[in-house]
Amino acid sequence: MATSLFSDIPAALTDPILGVTEAFRADTCPTKVNLGVGIYQDAHGKVPILESVKKAAAIWAATEDTKSYLPIDGVPTYNSATQELIFGKNSAALSEKRVATIQTVGGSGALKLAIDFIHRFFPESTMYVSDPSWENHRVIFEAAGVKVDTYPYYNPSTNGLRSEEMLDALRRLRPSSAVLLHACCHNPTGVDIDADTWAQIAAVCEERRLLPLIDCAYQGFGAGLEDDAAPVRAMAARGLTFFVASSYAKSFAMYRERVGALSVVTGSAKEAAVMTSQIKRGVRMIYSSPPSYGAQVVSIALTTPDLRILWERELSDMRARIREMREVFAQKLAVAIPNRDFSFILNQNGMFSYSGLSAGVVRELRERYHIYALDSGRICVAALNHNNVDSVCAAIADVLKVS
Ligand code: LMR
Repeated sequence: MATSLFSDIPAALTDPILGVTEAFRADTCPTKVNLGVGIYQDAHGKVPILESVKKAAAIWAATEDTKSYLPIDGVPTYNSATQELIFGKNSAALSEKRVATIQTVGGSGALKLAIDFIHRFFPESTMYVSDPSWENHRVIFEAAGVKVDTYPYYNPSTNGLRSEEMLDALRRLRPSSAVLLHACCHNPTGVDIDADTWAQIAAVCEERRLLPLIDCAYQGFGAGLEDDAAPVRAMAARGLTFFVASSYAKSFAMYRERVGALSVVTGSAKEAAVMTSQIKRGVRMIYSSPPSYGAQVVSIALTTPDLRILWERELSDMRARIREMREVFAQKLAVAIPNRDFSFILNQNGMFSYSGLSAGVVRELRERYHIYALDSGRICVAALNHNNVDSVCAAIADVLKVS
């Protein structure tokens, strides 16, 4: 065989989140638990297909009449329903046609299109992400050639937000700096920004002429569809220009269909048209045009009144189950580990809990108990159920040597 051209290529590092799922899949222990990846599981540990999705898919199967390409910016009804979900029915920005929305390959595709645009048109911009943030934010942004830095966010000693330090840091940024913000259900900490701090962030973004990119991957998993979008709506109402990367992976449990969108809130209808043209160009350079299935199904579910009601109920059931398991988890940890305060878990939102467990504890949980979490201590509360929560809490107690 001729000498391989690939013989000197080093292996890439294992992904800190999806790599945990790979290790979990390879584990043959029947009692294994995956608290790593952010995926909702029902009370029986199954990743459900929502009824609203099944019904919308049946409608789509009966009506699809071509496999021709979609437009570069995707399914028009999907884009308009997405805009309305994020910005609200009465949004002035929408009625003024100042928002450009484009279907993307998942929320990650939206982040990639936004950062490519920033790199091209604001080449001096650094992207600031919260400390900590979703691991893949930095990876996507740096791969686009943009320098990434952090702003203070989580305070491990209070398990809360470093609001003042965060605002001070944002006030010191150079104009046109990009800032990644999580709309709700902060990944990985579960610690969200309160309304007062959001208002101050918006004011700083305006004064300093910063470029916010809001990651809105968990709308509906915090306080509800409307409340979770409130920070985005307030920024739009203030007249700020910014990006929103959104995803239906979680809210429709359509993880593998890669259904996302990038919205750009601009200064005028004319600007929105220009931004659409630029983002479309970005799409063409990466994957040419988007896939159809997931967006068609979501579009049908969002725009068919009875399916919309069904979906909102299913989403609210998922939110309630996660909330219940968060409470059960905190209570059981308090009983199993009485000398340690876990009450902060109750103040966190969404799928995740930043548990405060060290990488060493996480490793022991995996090696001794086949319980998988992230090295950061992030636990997916949405993967807990009444059948596994006792053993998870007992294992944590044992590893912390208090049982
Ligand atoms: C997560 O944070 O676990 C999810 O967003 C899945 C992923 O792709 O990392």
